[in-house]
Amino acid sequence: MSETGKQRGAAIDLSAVSKAYGSFRALDDISLHIEAGEFMTLLGPSGSGKTTTLNVIAGFTEVSAGSLQVGGRSVVGMPAHKRNIGVVFQHYALFPHMTVGRNVAYPLSLRGVAKTEREARVKRALDMVRMADFAHRYPSELSGGQQQRVALARAIVFDPPLLLMDEPLGALDKKLREWLQLEIKRIHRELGTTFVYVTHDQEEALVLSDRIAVFNRGKIEQVGTGRDLYDAPETLFVGRFIGDSTVLRGQSRGDGSSTALDIAGETVTAPLKHAGRGQPVMLLRPEKLAIRRPGLGRNDGDNRLSGTISEAIYLGSGSKYEIRLRDGSTAIVRSPLTDESFTIGEAVELCFRGEDAKLVADDSAADTTLT
Ligand SMILES: Nc1ncnc2c1ncn2[C@@H]1O[C@H](COP(=O)(O)OP(=O)(O)OP(=O)(O)O)[C@@H](O)[C@H]1O
Ligand SMILES: [Mg+2]
Repeated sequence: MSETGKQRGAAIDLSAVSKAYGSFRALDDISLHIEAGEFMTLLGPSGSGKTTTLNVIAGFTEVSAGSLQVGGRSVVGMPAHKRNIGVVFQHYALFPHMTVGRNVAYPLSLRGVAKTEREARVKRALDMVRMADFAHRYPSELSGGQQQRVALARAIVFDPPLLLMDEPLGALDKKLREWLQLEIKRIHRELGTTFVYVTHDQEEALVLSDRIAVFNRGKIEQVGTGRDLYDAPETLFVGRFIGDSTVLRGQSRGDGSSTALDIAGETVTAPLKHAGRGQPVMLLRPEKLAIRRPGLGRNDGDNRLSGTISEAIYLGSGSKYEIRLRDGSTAIVRSPLTDESFTIGEAVELCFRGEDAKLVADDSAADTTLT
């Protein structure tokens, strides 16, 4: 932390980075630019390459190919301890034989910072994570959330221009996690440092991030704000990984300006041209779908599909319905609280406007890599 409490973070540039273990590519030609001071989250399922990317940036793993710059300088080949990067892991054990205060002072001792300055900085860092009253405790005398806050203090105490965090809240219960998310957001705002954060939890990514990079099988599928990824997913995988979505598949027909799908004898159309490779599928967000009783005259869009309510969940602020369509697939609908409610087994019509559908290329692998 600088005296003003503000400092510029370091920009990061990964360019065509690959990491191979034998013939397996844990990272496959990844390029990512992270702005100075940005909060970037690496989001993806287990094994998709998030930790490997963080390790590459930190210098714990060397790249097999590609270039990496931190703060405008190439750090390829530079040992981790020379990179001046703060790191917090999911289970980053504090030194058990040292008090909280000595744990946090450790990076400063390593750097030869004098005692008075060291004490002042430790206090500032512990204040920032709201742990100043715990300086004399040992790690074993702290809860998991408190230990992670101390780990965070230790990672920021030496003013690194870049902080890397790998699922730091993964071991904590939901309530504590949600509270610490807000704390981490506040600390990011106060420090102005670049944060790179790893999670497989899409809600956590949406809460924290300026931008999110979605990883899948060693590649980055899309980078954007949470809104970009929700409103304009470029791939089926991204559409399904961020938020709920309904995927409509069928025999496709297209002309220059629209795309139609024939689904078990019914047709839906969208005023869009399929630009991607492979078969197009339509992706619809739950709030863009409406349910009506069959034969009702009301028009909720240009498209209708027949189905049966297979699940009805009351959410307080509204309801969530699952609808089994004729082709056996399931649609997810979120409807605001109204007088109208539907019961399981009821025959209904699913309605949507063609312009609310996103067209993405079908990718059967997107189904298998989500977990
Ligand atoms: N030292 C290694 N040797 C061989 N394969 C490795 C090694 N380290 C990682 N991998 C493989 O690389 C892939 C990416 O691993 P990584 O740890 O980056 O995944 P992740 O996205 O962090 O997953 P998780 O959410 O489970 O932590 C995995 O398939 C993993 O098995
Ligand atoms: Mg990991």
